[in-house]
Amino acid sequence: MSDLKSYLTATASRIDAAMDGFLPTAKTRPATIHSAMRYSVFAGGKRLRPVLCLAANAACGGDSENALAPACALELMHTYSLVHDDLPAMDDDDLRRGRPTCHKVYGEGMAVLTGDALLTQAFIVLAQTPETKRYSTRDFITELAETGGSEKLIGGQVLDLEGEAKPLTKRDLVRIHEAKTAALLTSSLRLGAMTANATPRKLEALTTFGHHLGLAFQVIDDILDVTQTTEMLGKTAGKDEAVEKSTYPAILGLDKSRKEAARLTKAAMKALQPLGKKATRLEQIATYLLDREY
Ligand code: IPE
Ligand code: IPE
Ligand code: MG
Ligand code: MG
Ligand code: MG
Repeated sequence: MSDLKSYLTATASRIDAAMDGFLPTAKTRPATIHSAMRYSVFAGGKRLRPVLCLAANAACGGDSENALAPACALELMHTYSLVHDDLPAMDDDDLRRGRPTCHKVYGEGMAVLTGDALLTQAFIVLAQTPETKRYSTRDFITELAETGGSEKLIGGQVLDLEGEAKPLTKRDLVRIHEAKTAALLTSSLRLGAMTANATPRKLEALTTFGHHLGLAFQVIDDILDVTQTTEMLGKTAGKDEAVEKSTYPAILGLDKSRKEAARLTKAAMKALQPLGKKATRLEQIATYLLDREY
């Protein structure tokens, strides 16, 4: 595990260095928006989506240099989704990644625009991904655009908002989690694999892995919201219950939710079989995410 910890730290630094080069400087005019974009991106964060992108590239025998652009594009899309998720009109959160949220510092109007700018920048960066024999720039763009769109990430956020204070079933919840969270984690793996010119079989295996891992990830996020402190999470704990979100712990209780996360993680691991030994890093990441504390 200590090997994994150093891999995660080193990868996060590598992503941050690449990201610095992919973003306009804080002084670029108009400075407010560029400083706000950097404020939210460099606030910290686990960099999980870039890590999955690079690890999937490695699992398919690729050159990780080629996966840096999609890795940063994924983090930009993810950060935009957080900036908007925190807005008063959505989850209304004051704290993110251990700092005041974007709208608390820059105001609501500017936070809306910061999210828009981060999302747009994601595609500027993604378009710089080197093509491979099997996968073109169009394939990369389509992959991320569909995942960020109204049937996946945005659609999931719509269902999440509409589900507040309503008694949802487990099936409803799975649908929300698939769309708002699992889709982007799956695309992180797929884009990494695509930069390694992965065979359709390997791409399929990683898609199944991502689906289960992504579902487990949101179940754990919901558990941590109940069990962790605000300080540890870097975002306000207990928020889901306060606004009557339907979550796994709310529907099934903590014990069953933990079991469900473990079951999903196991299913994810199983999907890695076609990748053989090269998938060890991905297995380690799945185990780490299940046991994570924030
Ligand atoms: C939080 O994602 C939003 C969810 C999809 C649950 P992360 O837990 O990956 O947030 P950061 O990037 O580490 O801040
Ligand atoms: C957010 O889910 C998923 C996104 C697409 C941003 P949450 O609303 O549970 O994420 P947190 O707990 O605020 O990070
Ligand atoms: Mg939310
Ligand atoms: Mg939220
Ligand atoms: Mg949450």
